[in-house]
Amino acid sequence: MKQEQKLALQIAIDGPAGAGKSTLAKLVAKQLNLFYVDTGAMYRAIAYKVLKNGILLEDELSVSQIAKTTEVILDHSEKQNVWCDGENVTLAIRSPEISRAVSIVAAYVGVRERLVELQRQEAARGGVVMDGRDIGTQVLPEANLKIFLTATPQERARRRWLEFVKAGKNVRLEEVAQDMQKRDRQDTEREVSPLEPAEDAVILDTTGCSVERMAAKIIALTQEDGR
Ligand code: DC
Repeated sequence: MKQEQKLALQIAIDGPAGAGKSTLAKLVAKQLNLFYVDTGAMYRAIAYKVLKNGILLEDELSVSQIAKTTEVILDHSEKQNVWCDGENVTLAIRSPEISRAVSIVAAYVGVRERLVELQRQEAARGGVVMDGRDIGTQVLPEANLKIFLTATPQERARRRWLEFVKAGKNVRLEEVAQDMQKRDRQDTEREVSPLEPAEDAVILDTTGCSVERMAAKIIALTQEDGR
């Protein structure tokens, strides 16, 4: 692949929570020397600000207003810090409370319009691996490669639960599984940009598969003719 092609390479990775998107996207970005953009973190930052300001999650107008005026920055450092109006929210946005609130906020058209605009600005900086729910269908419809990741619900819940445990959070696996099921439903059934594979997406099941093998597969796909 020529260097200039590599710089403009866009890889979209979509899928439900716990499918392994971010771990995989980070590794592929590192190996191909591309930016990694975690769009879920941007939705989480908006949910964080909404809760912090005591705004009702159901108040669509106020939530959309917050989204329009909030500065969300991903700093692309090794730590992948997330900044919300100058505050480092990298750890705070991973709490179970934010995980519950974020699907509500992400269903609002005003929130999505604002964040899609910021996400496209990120992609304009150069080659990118972007993960989320609507990257292949809405944010980067011209991406060179679109991946839709899946894994069994049990495996996805177990992975998310392990992340909480590693972060020192005391949560039960069943509770994580239930929250995840609810969030999947909200993300899939919402009217605006629901979670679904793009028509031209490659569907990959990550159950029982190592992240290294999956990354190698994705990198091989980018080298196929016509991408
Ligand atoms: O990937 P994640 O779990 O951090 O995403 C958090 C929430 O944000 C999730 O419920 C779905 C939503 N989201 C979205 O609607 N569109 C995206 N592009 C990314 C995330």
